[in-house]
Amino acid sequence: MKYSIQSGFAGFPSVDLIGGPTPLQRAVNLEMVLRGEGINAGIYLKRDDLMPIGGGGNKIRKLQYHMAAILGNGADTVVTFGGIQSNHARLTAAVSARLGLECHLVLSQQVDIRTDEYQANGNPWLNRIFGANSHLLDRDESAELFAKSLIDRLEGQGKKVAVIPTGGSTALGALGYAECAFEIAQQADAAGLNVRNISLANGSSGTQAGLIAGWIDLEKSPDIITGYAVMASRGSTIDATRDLAASTLKLIGGNRLPDVFTPGVDDSQLGAAYGQPTQSMVEAVGLLAKTEGVLLDPVYSGKAFAGLLAQLRAGAYASGDDVIFLMTGGVPSIYAYQGALDDSFSGHSYSTVGIL
Ligand SMILES: Cc1ncc(COP(=O)(O)O)c(C=O)c1O
Repeated sequence: MKYSIQSGFAGFPSVDLIGGPTPLQRAVNLEMVLRGEGINAGIYLKRDDLMPIGGGGNKIRKLQYHMAAILGNGADTVVTFGGIQSNHARLTAAVSARLGLECHLVLSQQVDIRTDEYQANGNPWLNRIFGANSHLLDRDESAELFAKSLIDRLEGQGKKVAVIPTGGSTALGALGYAECAFEIAQQADAAGLNVRNISLANGSSGTQAGLIAGWIDLEKSPDIITGYAVMASRGSTIDATRDLAASTLKLIGGNRLPDVFTPGVDDSQLGAAYGQPTQSMVEAVGLLAKTEGVLLDPVYSGKAFAGLLAQLRAGAYASGDDVIFLMTGGVPSIYAYQGALDDSFSGHSYSTVGIL
């Protein structure tokens, strides 16, 4: 196994799994299509779905910090949690493979979809290819109790076990997105952007909390950051995001969260429940795919991008404003939603012929 541990954000140890900044890409064709609807803002994609391991995605930035701590403690086995189609689980499996760690995934039935493609295709299939041990729980089984007995068993076999909480969303994991805030600011400055909004999906809140912490550390207003809640209601997502942003800033030891601060959270795209497809998600996935050749995922970034499109269509941003959408990955789960996505795609096409 070969890896290098470097001094990462705020001097915390980090395993390099990305190798440099991810691209900030202008969505020119999409802009052209939206101009036909009277929308003139600049639209940029921060491509955190493009990373050189496991298919990429936001969890890699968090795992850079978690894994450095785990290796530093001499652990040889990792246990983490998620739903069957968890991207965090898949990326923990991939990163464990790279780092030579034994990986155990405790997977729950969080979403009431029983199709074969949901239960077996996409992420759970990739987990097996990456060599992880998957423990699929029954609907009412407690992940916490199962993990406790699993850890006892592994430790009984002489293994040194480290646990990564759901989504890697601790202050340590969120450091990855505080670091990303600096990366985005640098890229936006270099491109001369007038950034009025950064949109992203919010599940377990670590990504948005980290971005907020970084933005505050940069002495910029975190009010431009909008998280589209895909897992819980606005109220509980706001609380979780604020608490985690505060603990991330505390860890960094820099600026503090403003005394009165409400993170920007919008739950209008949640739909019936976490992981249940919505019509606006299907439209958003199709629009970006057909204009830019870029894939969103049905659970997180598809719903968040639908939210950004709704804001653009409501006239929230004008000519001269730039918005950045954080592409957080998750594309393998598209294979678990073939039925939901199929019907809605037939017949659409967009004219994007033009010269830059
Ligand atoms: C593809 C994708 N996007 C966004 C998120 C949300 O990130 P967070 O849990 O940090 O809010 C996740 C979390 O699982 C994800 O897998």
